[in-house]
Amino acid sequence: MGVQGCDASLLLDNAPNFIGEKNIPPNKNSTRGYEVIDEIKSAVEKKCPGVVSCADIIAIVARDSVSILGGPSWGVQLGRRDARATNAIVTNVSLPLPKANLKELVLRFRGIALKRRDLVALVGAHTPGEAQCHSFRERIYNESNMNKELAQKRRLKCPRSQGSGDANLAPIDAQTPIVFDNSYYKNLVQNKGLLHSDQQLFSGGKTDPIVRTYSKDQEAFFNDFASAMIKMGSVNPLIGPAGEIRLNCRRMNPII
Ligand code: HEM
Repeated sequence: MGVQGCDASLLLDNAPNFIGEKNIPPNKNSTRGYEVIDEIKSAVEKKCPGVVSCADIIAIVARDSVSILGGPSWGVQLGRRDARATNAIVTNVSLPLPKANLKELVLRFRGIALKRRDLVALVGAHTPGEAQCHSFRERIYNESNMNKELAQKRRLKCPRSQGSGDANLAPIDAQTPIVFDNSYYKNLVQNKGLLHSDQQLFSGGKTDPIVRTYSKDQEAFFNDFASAMIKMGSVNPLIGPAGEIRLNCRRMNPII
């Protein structure tokens, strides 16, 4: 999720004077698909050079990926520009971690003007996602509110000892791993959340009723997800003279 707004800072490769956000621990080996963005960007540049930002491409790709997998669609607001700076240290401390508790998650989202309901809806993006063993090891071995059967199954490819099988992947929503639907929430009400942070949304706190609603009403989830994506996509956009339209999404434009 965005740290300083949707400004394509995540796409920047390492450069001599900085480490790219994509290469810091919470994102490393986790965020993927950069080649797809590169392909789209070069096709767009061929037709219409210097006009469409990488940040707008990400926003459209996010919408289309959700919709292709069976989820909702929405009108993407356009006109964002790309960051000319990135701060891996800020990213490192700002990204919510899978060990976060509900209070921390709510505060993180409030920090970018997103409400509790937005948080619960947005994390539903995990429905077609995968997670690495190191992100959920603690949960499957040590948490009492984890469904026992699922924990046993996940342990088969995620050994207890740190450093072994760390990058092994498991679907976050085992019921329908490549469909965008509300089964993520159905899992949570059965204590089948894979990440600690997922299960926090249904663990006796104020977000329980929202999770319950989404688990029964896919339409409500889809509507709230679409509006929350529009909201998240318009947090601190770079517009007007700020930023630039990058020519290559992996590098800032050279100063001429
Ligand atoms: C509540 C805060 C959140 C936390 C703590 C969190 C944490 C995580 C973690 C730990 C993973 C697995 C990474 C790995 O092991 O490689 C993951 C995957 C993912 N997250 Fe989140 N996330 C949060 C919110 C969001 C939001 C708001 C979205 C989008 C709207 C999102 C979209 C995704 C997607 C699509 C994946 C799957 C990536 C893949 O399959 O390659 N997450 N998240």
